[in-house]
Amino acid sequence: MKHTLYILSAIISVATVYATDIRITTDDIDLLLTTSPNGRLYQTYLGKKLLTVENLPWQQSTGSDNSGGEKGWEVYPSRGTDNLFDDALVIEHNDGNLSTRLYYQSHTQRDSETIITLKDDAYPVEVKLHYVTYPHENIITCWSEIIHHEKKPIYLSTYASNMLYLKDNHYYLTQFNSDWAKEAQMSTQELLPGKKTISSKLGTRVTMYEEPFFEVGIGTPPSEDEGTVLMGTIGWTGNFQESFEIDNAGVLRITTSINPCNSRYTLQSNTPFVTPQCIFTLSFEGVGQGSRNFHNWSRRYAVKEGMGSRLTLLNNWESTGFDFDQQRLTEVIHEAKDLDVDMFLLDDGWFGNKYPRNNDGAGLGDWDVNRSKLPDGLQGLVQTATTDGLRFGLWVEPEMVNPKSELYTKHPDWVLQQPNRTPYYYRHQLVLDLPNPAVQEYVYNTIATILTTNPQIRYLKWDCNSPITNNYSPYLGKRQGNLYVDYVRGLYTIWDRINTQFPDVYIMLCAGGGGRCDYKALSSCTEFWPSDNTDPLDRLYIQWGFSQFMPSKVMCAHITSWNSSASLKFRTDVAMMGKLGYDLNYGSLSPTDKQFCQQAVQNWKVWQPIVLDGQQYRLVSPYTSNHMAVNYVSSDSTQALLFAYDLFPRFRENIQSVKFKGLIPTASYRVTEENLMPNTSSQLPFHGKTFSGDYLMKVGLDVCTDNRMHSTVLYLRRD
Ligand code: DGJ
Repeated sequence: MKHTLYILSAIISVATVYATDIRITTDDIDLLLTTSPNGRLYQTYLGKKLLTVENLPWQQSTGSDNSGGEKGWEVYPSRGTDNLFDDALVIEHNDGNLSTRLYYQSHTQRDSETIITLKDDAYPVEVKLHYVTYPHENIITCWSEIIHHEKKPIYLSTYASNMLYLKDNHYYLTQFNSDWAKEAQMSTQELLPGKKTISSKLGTRVTMYEEPFFEVGIGTPPSEDEGTVLMGTIGWTGNFQESFEIDNAGVLRITTSINPCNSRYTLQSNTPFVTPQCIFTLSFEGVGQGSRNFHNWSRRYAVKEGMGSRLTLLNNWESTGFDFDQQRLTEVIHEAKDLDVDMFLLDDGWFGNKYPRNNDGAGLGDWDVNRSKLPDGLQGLVQTATTDGLRFGLWVEPEMVNPKSELYTKHPDWVLQQPNRTPYYYRHQLVLDLPNPAVQEYVYNTIATILTTNPQIRYLKWDCNSPITNNYSPYLGKRQGNLYVDYVRGLYTIWDRINTQFPDVYIMLCAGGGGRCDYKALSSCTEFWPSDNTDPLDRLYIQWGFSQFMPSKVMCAHITSWNSSASLKFRTDVAMMGKLGYDLNYGSLSPTDKQFCQQAVQNWKVWQPIVLDGQQYRLVSPYTSNHMAVNYVSSDSTQALLFAYDLFPRFRENIQSVKFKGLIPTASYRVTEENLMPNTSSQLPFHGKTFSGDYLMKVGLDVCTDNRMHSTVLYLRRD
């Protein structure tokens, strides 16, 4: 009876709805939604901002139904009645019915937030669609919230954050494939009818093979400064799926979602299921402007300490690996002091006694300091660093455990492990059962104890070296479909507690390099490690890829000995485009090289506001030339830095001048070459000269050469 009443009231309320127009708008973009006469919600427009909003038709081409039924671009389509293409929502109701159909109920618009409520007409299921706009940055974030009042749980098998529609004759997708030491490699293809997905099912080290970013060129392939491009990503540190489906009428649907694979989610009554955010921009001046939209938005609104400064550091991983003791680390700390970086970062290998962490096969999970390596404990090292005027950073990998550990011996039920199969170990380790609140408590307490005992620790390198390989949670029992989602939520609970309790601690995200890289994680963590590959040649491609969506501020870039056939200057110039750090045997450098490094650290400290907070302009792509160049302009436009690299130029290649971007045409800029080796001076004919912004942007300067692995840094100051 109650059920029948509910259906009646839903029908009555939707019958009163007629053509409600909803405008979601930024400085340059309009996303328009409207209700149809029978109360369904459709997208009518996504594009350049309109001068005035006319009555746009909700009935858009799609499908091939000539029955006179409604056909449009439904904003949150669901399975089981009239949707013939991708779904945003698929529910199994507690009576076993697999259909859902949503009707507009109401909406609110306050400041920059729009919330639209939809309701099913046959089941007590409600969906709230959230949209938040960032007008000046031209970014829109959107997510959904699903709730039901059925007596027993329902099962969600698809639960998208949102769906967007585009209509053109051609669409081109740029994606970002990854692998260990080969992250964010860009490739572009034309989308053809049917479906293409970008996704990950790895659970923890989730972006190891595919970064969660997409660029869709509308009409033409995405290019740096021209054309319309939709750029989007998902803020979710777990399995994701971004799908691109072109229907029979040539309409492209883009659905951003948690990956539903192995994730049929059991949802209890009256418990909202909040999806991750889809974050997107539409640029009408190519991906360069789209990237700047993301950079400006993320620094201001998304990243932890996005407007704050960052710490330079010396890490010991590349120089010592697991093989160190207190004396060796004391030397490294003194080296950090000599280098005048802000912090020493102690990497893997400092813990475990019964199962010492002398390699990656043992000790993970036992977060007590290894007394034979470090007899004075962490405190001893922290004290040395503090005396040297340095902050202290520490490597941890708290979501994981080696079977050879005291933690595993004590709590074998705390790991994800199949009850009836032999485990598959990735890097000899297992993943903790983070949906279990007792495990969350343990992980939080582990970190809290370290930070409370050593209040000088200002930084954590939070590593995560394994994907989820044995997807069974002892805690979840019969609700295994909840594992991948509840794991991520467990991780967020821990990060939230750490950030509340220790707000001044910065966290670097790391997952064997760039295996974890999304904007939700970055709301808790200040930066990420893009790759273990620090060969400067490879890094140029990796940094170019990540820079499409991520500002320099969050990209850690360390100078190491990978590819030591590249000069120290070349390696340094590459790392200077990110958050600068060192990870090499500094003590073994020549006095000249040491002096160069010290000067580079000082230069970078001064330039930090230009590189990390300024506007980035990609000038020359390594994908289409044998060179690479980027310039950054300070937020007040008085300073700029140009980084230019010759990668593999050909003998007597025709070299083009590099044209700056983002300068003020009428202003004059004095150009000097910087970051030179000690006792050398610039040979560039324009060093010390003054040019107009117009000249620099139209004529440019001859900074590229045909020397392999050669680099130039130019500093521009407005007169
Ligand atoms: C993987 C990281 O990417 C490295 O930088 C290093 O921290 C190792 N883990 C330590 O095991």
